[in-house]
Amino acid sequence: MKALILCGGAGTRLRPITHTRAKQLVPVANKPILFYGLEAIAAAGIKEVGMIVGDTAAEVEAAVGDGSAWGTEVTYLPQEAPLGLAHCVRIAGEFLGDDDFVMYLGDNLLEQDLRSFVERFEADRAETLAPSLTDAPAEPAAAQILLAHVPDPQRFGVAELDAAGRVVRLVEKPADPPSDLALVGVYLFDRSIHEAVASIGPSERGELEITDAIQWLVDHGRRVRSEILEGWWIDTGKLTPLLDANRLLLEKLEARLEGEVDDASRVEGRVVLEAGARLVRSHVRGPAVIGEGTEVVDAFVGPFSAIGRRCRLERCEVEHSVMLDDSSVLDAGRIEDSLLGHHVEVTRSAQLPRAIRLMVGDHSQVDLG
Ligand code: G1P
Repeated sequence: MKALILCGGAGTRLRPITHTRAKQLVPVANKPILFYGLEAIAAAGIKEVGMIVGDTAAEVEAAVGDGSAWGTEVTYLPQEAPLGLAHCVRIAGEFLGDDDFVMYLGDNLLEQDLRSFVERFEADRAETLAPSLTDAPAEPAAAQILLAHVPDPQRFGVAELDAAGRVVRLVEKPADPPSDLALVGVYLFDRSIHEAVASIGPSERGELEITDAIQWLVDHGRRVRSEILEGWWIDTGKLTPLLDANRLLLEKLEARLEGEVDDASRVEGRVVLEAGARLVRSHVRGPAVIGEGTEVVDAFVGPFSAIGRRCRLERCEVEHSVMLDDSSVLDAGRIEDSLLGHHVEVTRSAQLPRAIRLMVGDHSQVDLG
């Protein structure tokens, strides 16, 4: 079993952060999204990983390296343009060979572990190949998909199941969805997917859709297993889901205070204070994580905040927000539900007339509250 992680894509819905960095490397709970996926793949016992990379290849390679940090071996597979998920399988053909593989979208986060998902695919195969089991399905599944009930199926690939739970139809971003079951960004395939991706044409949005490739398998009489997701799933490509993911992951945090807390500061609940971080006359209410070398002075850090490394918070309150490395918030009042990039400065000067003075990048969003 191999894994194919998809790390291309422009990340347009997370601009301006993604003007300068890969969407899969934006941290949640101070760890890049992609690392959670790599950990899940490694925990499922998968060692050979193909990583599809696009414009942000250099940055992904710098962060992941050869994959040995996860006990895996990563092979980088460049995609010249984001031409669709099935296109990724096409260009990974040689790397994947005839092996089964998990395809994992690098910007998705799942609570459910991958190991049991993989084991059930393998158990299904063992069952179909065991002649003694009379009621076993006749042929092993060619693919296994993971589905989640969602309120807005139009935004996803959507599956229609028959009464027995068999996949009968899959449609990508349907205007009139046949169900509320969205395809989650984790798939399992055997080698028959290669014929499927070679046989389909581009969709209306001009991409080779994996959804259409799986439909091709169904149309050619191949069995597609489906499972309903356990726990939460987040497609982190936008601000609100990213903050949701941050909240859900911080909820699993184990407290660890390695930094300095002065006598006038207070730490409540589950808080990670990394080495070299410092609290001075401040109050931190967890779950929250504060990165290495960050200073919090006369400030409040509220629940569900992930503050990066070497940040500075002074005379301000920050809650339910993600702050990336090297940013500062000084005298800024209260900040909530926000995502601040790297080297961002938010200040309030005493200069008259009192006005809001901005230098914000392309595609930034400012809510004056
Ligand atoms: C892709 C797939 C879609 C799936 C979704 C999950 O959509 O095409 O079927 O439901 O990922 O995140 P995209 O992110 O390309 O819009």
